[in-house]
Amino acid sequence: MTDTSPPTVTQLPDGTRLRVRPLAPADAPQILEGFEHLSQETRRRRFLGALKHLPPNHEHAITHADAFQHVVWGVAVLDELDREKGIGVAHVIRDPADPTRGEFAIVIADEWQHHGAGKVLTRALAARLLAIGIPIWTATMYLDNRAVQRLLADVGDEISRTVLSSGVGEIIYRLRPP
Ligand SMILES: CC(C)(COP(=O)(O)OP(=O)(O)OC[C@H]1O[C@@H](n2cnc3c(N)ncnc32)[C@H](O)[C@@H]1OP(=O)(O)O)[C@@H](O)C(=O)NCCC(=O)NCCS
Repeated sequence: MTDTSPPTVTQLPDGTRLRVRPLAPADAPQILEGFEHLSQETRRRRFLGALKHLPPNHEHAITHADAFQHVVWGVAVLDELDREKGIGVAHVIRDPADPTRGEFAIVIADEWQHHGAGKVLTRALAARLLAIGIPIWTATMYLDNRAVQRLLADVGDEISRTVLSSGVGEIIYRLRPP
């Protein structure tokens, strides 16, 4: 299945234009470069541990997703010539045991955090996943990660919370129709 969702452009209050779209194979080099610029804290929060290198083939996997079992979208800042600079990625992996559920993860480049890009990306992904039948999202996170909890509360309602270990928990959300 190919994700033919058209890109959308959203303007932040400061005038910055963001384009959101499914990732494509040509995005792989930007994924590698973007990871290199993530702070230790952002890597820790995204991957739940200190990660020096991306897992092997990670950039290939997220830029060749099948768009049904694995849905991966990115957000980019547009310059005045409409050229993109990728600043974030979010994905959902469908649960093979319960296809209505999926595991959500997201990262926004440090210098763009807290500007609204995560919310723009998550809203777009949520609309897509409601359309393809993944209304239940599981997110594994440090339980003090208020930012991702605010993001997810914007698109869904928390239905359960399980403490796993050393500050990490799994929160399950049910997406609300837009
Ligand atoms: C979590 C993350 C994706 C949020 O993206 P973002 O672009 O910074 O978020 P936004 O600017 O769209 O803000 C979304 C909400 O989070 C809140 N928020 C953002 N950063 C915050 C922070 N550091 N502390 C508390 N709340 C924060 C915003 O106020 C907003 O809430 P509101 O709508 O109620 O005002 C980003 O901080 C990030 O990449 N963190 C590191 C990786 C990570 O934690 N991934 C999640 C693992 S599942």
